[in-house]
Amino acid sequence: MPFFPPLLPAAALTTLALLLGGCRDDSDPAAPQAAPADPALAALYANTCQTCHANPASGAPLAGDAAAWAPRLAQGVDRLLEHSINGYQGMPPMGLCMQCSEAQFLALIGYMSGQPLH
Ligand code: HEC
Repeated sequence: MPFFPPLLPAAALTTLALLLGGCRDDSDPAAPQAAPADPALAALYANTCQTCHANPASGAPLAGDAAAWAPRLAQGVDRLLEHSINGYQGMPPMGLCMQCSEAQFLALIGYMSGQPLH
């Protein structure tokens, strides 16, 4: 039986983190901003929504993609908020941001859609 030293999974995770970090640098230069201007919001975004909403393979409407967000925005703010909190198809409940407040969800959706919400 081969013996895997306990360091191996850690090394694999580090490699994964580096790969993911690398992807983040590939952000579309045409996008208005790669992160919300508010630092606290940017930190929440980086740890949650960005994982999917900056990743075309996820099927999520991408941050800064106004065309993808237009039909979603047309549903109205209440529906977007409800889907953010309860989940909606591939969108997990709370968008994995368990500590996010309603105001923060609205700010995050506003940032991603390019359409400030209140
Ligand atoms: C694990 C991946 C994932 C994460 C993390 C995630 N989303 Fe999503 N989100 C999706 C996918 C996929 C969709 C598209 C769902 C569909 O229409 O099938 C989506 C759709 C949405 C929608 C549109 C819902 C609608 O009614 O059309 C909103 C709003 C949204 N996400 C907000 C957020 C916010 C805010 C965060 C961070 C707090 C977040 N998401 C994090 C995957 C994710």
